[in-house]
Amino acid sequence: MKHLLSLKDLSQSQLLALLELALKIKANPAEYRHALDGKNVVMLFEKPSLRTRVSFDIGINKLGGHCVYMDQQNGALGKRESVRDFAGNISQWADAIVARTFSHVTVEELAEYATVPVVNALSDLYHPCQVLADLLTLKEVLGSLQGLKLAYIGDGNNVTNSLMLGAAIVGAQMTVICPEGHFPDGFAVTQAQQLAAVHGGSLLLTPDVSALEGVDAVYTDTWISMGDSTKLSDIAAKFAQYQVSKELMEKYKVKSFMHCLPAHRGVEVTDEVMDGEGSLILQQAQNRMHAQNAVLVTLLN
Ligand code: CP
Ligand code: NVA
Repeated sequence: MKHLLSLKDLSQSQLLALLELALKIKANPAEYRHALDGKNVVMLFEKPSLRTRVSFDIGINKLGGHCVYMDQQNGALGKRESVRDFAGNISQWADAIVARTFSHVTVEELAEYATVPVVNALSDLYHPCQVLADLLTLKEVLGSLQGLKLAYIGDGNNVTNSLMLGAAIVGAQMTVICPEGHFPDGFAVTQAQQLAAVHGGSLLLTPDVSALEGVDAVYTDTWISMGDSTKLSDIAAKFAQYQVSKELMEKYKVKSFMHCLPAHRGVEVTDEVMDGEGSLILQQAQNRMHAQNAVLVTLLN
């Protein structure tokens, strides 16, 4: 494992090992206090962030490392100087690069020209760190990922792509429910279907909300991702039946609710579900740090 750009870079055993390590770090933080001693991580963010930025920063600090945060003070990546030169220079000082970019091509280019590991902290195509935290959360809640039945409902986006890949790698039964015209990226679907076939999982795509019946958890995300200029008023009616409400959860007997956040309360999910008993949102947020720390400890040692 040299970089983490997409979960498809991981074998099943690598992914499961990351989750095990995350659980160990979470249970015994003192044991890992020096795991990144003397290591420096540069974080480049082209887009806003709360969870990713703070969980990486505090997580690196807990492992004894140091992080340097860079926003768009110099303009978008590749504007002041090429991504290639940027990657080459940062590699002279830093031990790893964490990057959140508009285009996935930019993260790939960073990885191509950096001589240190690159971690994708969200691109237009994937959000692997999020889904590692989500799988960790499901493992904690369900006791095991074996036989996991997971549904994603709403807009097919970067989080959906990573969720499909992660679910496929662990052999889960994954259902993706989207309005027509909003299904996830075809390439990611094909990759996930191939991985699901290898690992004994399945992937169903449907516009039919009743496919929620019997799943362990339902996951949703914003209907309009960062960098997407769609207006909510143009899609609200089309998406209305895909809102996660208490009634929907009860009708299809779904116990757990997941959201990567930030959420739009009253849009893709109601307050009642966000703050309800089955809501895993804060456990997911907490696990961002532990999952990412497992990634950094693995990549940097
Ligand atoms: N879930 C997530 O990545 O949140 P941020 O955009 O706040 O980092
Ligand atoms: N799909 C969302 C995820 C935010 C963490 C976006 O890209 O904006």
